[in-house]
Amino acid sequence: MPVDFDVKGKVIAITGAGSGIGFATARLLAEQGCLLSICDVNGTALAECTKEIAALSSSPLNILSTVVDVRKVSDVDSWIDATVAKFGKLDGGINMAGVIPKVINIERVEDLNDEDWNFVIDVNLNGVMHCMRAQLRNMNIGGSIINAASICGVIGFPKNAAYTATKHAVIGLSRTAAKEVGDREIRVNCIAPGLIEGPMQQKSVATRGGEQVWKCHIMRRGTPFEVGSLITWLLCDQSKYISGTVQIIDGAWAC
Ligand SMILES: NC(=O)c1ccc[n+]([C@@H]2O[C@H](COP(=O)([O-])OP(=O)(O)OC[C@H]3O[C@@H](n4cnc5c(N)ncnc54)[C@H](O)[C@@H]3O)[C@@H](O)[C@H]2O)c1
Repeated sequence: MPVDFDVKGKVIAITGAGSGIGFATARLLAEQGCLLSICDVNGTALAECTKEIAALSSSPLNILSTVVDVRKVSDVDSWIDATVAKFGKLDGGINMAGVIPKVINIERVEDLNDEDWNFVIDVNLNGVMHCMRAQLRNMNIGGSIINAASICGVIGFPKNAAYTATKHAVIGLSRTAAKEVGDREIRVNCIAPGLIEGPMQQKSVATRGGEQVWKCHIMRRGTPFEVGSLITWLLCDQSKYISGTVQIIDGAWAC
């Protein structure tokens, strides 16, 4: 059943739209009548997802699809400039592009690998900063930004330092921005998912020793659609006094 959020006609930029939560959110927003500028670093996945998203929209002209590496400032700035040039405004930014380290659930802090650490910081933290900076420079009064944190942003996770550090940092960055742009009625919030179905959680669970480890903590895995619904609510005008928050969606894991 369609969810009735007041987001029709809003122009929304989404990173990580080629998979998981970003893709599910783009589908939901296309159905709700948003104009979408979607991006991902994986051009093949993005092309497939773009077809599905465009089919849900009232017109394929409502979708701009761009290959962007969020680590690169020039990619991000050109993407947001092109978004505003095409649609004439920007009402929302959804920054979901993210990675887990190649090595996860094995290394303690004293064993951290520099290359893996820098890779995760570059995508999960620098990438969010690049996107949020470009979005805020172009954001309408009343706009809304939603950044991907994690329950790893609110509690420590042993043998998961790089990812956990980036998600804590995204929360600090978002709270700071929220206080800076409140006078423009712009909101900045984070989502903090627990275990959500998709490729990222499959890799993470596989290295953590299987599903029995999380089954004793939470009711079940969440779905990308459930997270997309939360994001849509944070975008819509009904939530316009909510800013600087971290919205945990984790089936009671981190409580
Ligand atoms: N899935 C979970 O269980 C979970 C839990 C907590 C937080 N999160 C966070 O939510 C966000 C979305 O997670 P997901 O499950 O949809 O992951 P996912 O792996 O399904 O999708 C992430 C997308 O980001 C893209 N991406 C990676 N590096 C990029 C780059 N440099 N530039 C542009 N795009 C890039 C990938 O190509 C992929 O399409 C991530 O930031 C993740 O850390 C996910």
